[in-house]
Amino acid sequence: MSCSLRPVGRAQRARLEQLTAATGLFRPDEVAIAVELLDDALGGDDAYRFLGAFSGDEFVGYACWGPTPGTSGTYDLYWIVVDPTRQGQGFGTQLLQAVENNLMTDDGRLVIVETSSRAEYEATRAFYERRGYARAAQIPGYYAAGDDLVIYLKDLTHGVLARATA
Ligand SMILES: CC(C)(COP(=O)(O)OP(=O)(O)OC[C@H]1O[C@@H](n2cnc3c(N)ncnc32)[C@H](O)[C@@H]1OP(=O)(O)O)[C@@H](O)C(=O)NCCC(=O)NCCS
Repeated sequence: MSCSLRPVGRAQRARLEQLTAATGLFRPDEVAIAVELLDDALGGDDAYRFLGAFSGDEFVGYACWGPTPGTSGTYDLYWIVVDPTRQGQGFGTQLLQAVENNLMTDDGRLVIVETSSRAEYEATRAFYERRGYARAAQIPGYYAAGDDLVIYLKDLTHGVLARATA
């Protein structure tokens, strides 16, 4: 199913909070962070950029990314969320593709994604892996005992980066 991708505005703030919480994957303090980042972005902070997926007028998902401080051309994908009742319909793929396209026109080289090793995130990890994200590092017990940090990366330069550092 195709959606339209548009900026996320103040009108989507409550819905963004609601659908992030509805995934069941994020603690209330993490949900609050997503909303705070939107507020920062709407306030003009270029460190956080949002793109929304809309089905008609309905806000069904979003991605949030930004330049990784202290790097050149490296970006963090901080959030990508699709309403649970709308998952598996291609919205997440369209959002991810749009973020990557945006970064490529912005001299982006590397996309970094941090996620969890917990079983609930298995579908999320599969989502990244099938879209060209390589598991680059895992830090045992990072989030909590038995909950590792898993870091994925995608080289948007298609190997130029790897050759340059070889
Ligand atoms: C991960 C996520 C953004 C993907 O969005 P989506 O719209 O469901 O993704 P698509 O429909 O484009 O693609 C579906 C793919 O995602 C995977 N997937 C992840 N969660 C899924 C779900 N709940 N339902 C269906 N597919 C899911 C499937 O493995 C499928 O892979 P395939 O197409 O390679 O077979 C979305 O499932 C989501 O919001 N998950 C919860 C929040 C999350 O984990 N965010 C990332 C960490 S910040």
